[in-house]
Amino acid sequence: MVFELKPGLLLGAASAATQIEGGDSGHNWNDWYSRGNIKDRSNPARSTDHYNRWKEDADLMASMGLQIYRFGIEWARLCPTEDTVDEAAIAHYREEITYLKEKGINLLLTIHHFTNPMWFEKKGGFTKVENIKHYLDLVSLVVKSFGDLVSEYITINEPNVYATSSYFFGEWPPGEKSFMSAVKVMSVMTVCHIEAYKLIHKMRKEMGYDDTKVSFANHVRVFDPANPRNLRHRILASLLDRFFQGAITEAMCLGKFKWPIRKYLPVEPGEYIDFIALNYYTRTTVFRFGDGVKKEAPKNDLGWEIYPEGIIRCAERLYDVLKRPIYITENGTCDNKDIFRCRYIYDHLKKLCESELPVERYYHWCFCDNFEWLEGESARFGLVYVDYNTQTRTIKRSGEFFSEIIKANGVTKEVFDEYVKTQQYHY
Ligand code: BGC
Repeated sequence: MVFELKPGLLLGAASAATQIEGGDSGHNWNDWYSRGNIKDRSNPARSTDHYNRWKEDADLMASMGLQIYRFGIEWARLCPTEDTVDEAAIAHYREEITYLKEKGINLLLTIHHFTNPMWFEKKGGFTKVENIKHYLDLVSLVVKSFGDLVSEYITINEPNVYATSSYFFGEWPPGEKSFMSAVKVMSVMTVCHIEAYKLIHKMRKEMGYDDTKVSFANHVRVFDPANPRNLRHRILASLLDRFFQGAITEAMCLGKFKWPIRKYLPVEPGEYIDFIALNYYTRTTVFRFGDGVKKEAPKNDLGWEIYPEGIIRCAERLYDVLKRPIYITENGTCDNKDIFRCRYIYDHLKKLCESELPVERYYHWCFCDNFEWLEGESARFGLVYVDYNTQTRTIKRSGEFFSEIIKANGVTKEVFDEYVKTQQYHY
């Protein structure tokens, strides 16, 4: 054995409703598409057509031996207008969840993953304190509808990425470029998470369950100064770190509000996560305010540095904030030809398994290639290849490798030689 998985570590994959389902047009990413903002002009209404092909996908996951699956619901589908709930959509998700559970796959449900219904977006979305109630109505609907089937929840996916991409860089809907709005969104989302945390626990307790686990998916990256001896680089790195992740992490996990996060509503300090949910992809090398990349480092097809050590540095840091079991709720890479993904998985998993940290789950991002937001269909992150014209699924080499790891509970010498040994990153 080259390395064994940590005792009890479960492996699976993650997805998000808008990125796979297709078919829905009532949300802000459909609107963003129709205004010509997707780089390759692909339409999220197509994506992988998972809404119709969920059974085939569940069977494929089971055939690959996946033990866990993180998935999301589409808010605009459940609530097409402010005052309506689509019972057929609820029935649909219940059928899918039940089927996955019958296949022995444990579920983690994401309530909000970047996408808003247009009716919510038009009201100002998460920039408005008075809109928190709409998000909490969604949380309540989700628990009422699926609480008997699902015990683990992610309240919000990557609030920092959502707030900065949509309100600071202006690249995502609604395309605003304002520091103040981005900070406001992070602050409002903090309250949303904390109130949702309490609400999910309360509702499931009333339903008679005591196994509820709640967290938010925290996108954390390493910010290293390009030149550690350059004072400007160091100051910028720590500023970026605080603005992008330091302050919001403390606020969401502990209810402690520090600059730049503001407390718009009374929230008690406390402990508001049951597990650390870490989404890890890359490191930022800082020489200016923004995303910098180290020149001589290995990179993926989107130019993101591949830095396996970072997954441990980020996990250790979160573990210092609050000692909880660690779920890697996303980790993966854009490798369009699937020529270094096996090595990527190997390097990151090995780091996790060699550390002393209590890592309990690893959800690879992602199961199938899917609609990658601004990049559309042109950036492939999946373990399974999707031909979008025919919607045919084909397990990639990396998908086979992932299955082999699950089967052997680690990486054997033969599997290493067959899948990893010859793979190189590019620079
Ligand atoms: C997001 C996913 C996205 C992935 C790759 C994460 O930040 O949660 O939705 O597809 O990164 O870009």
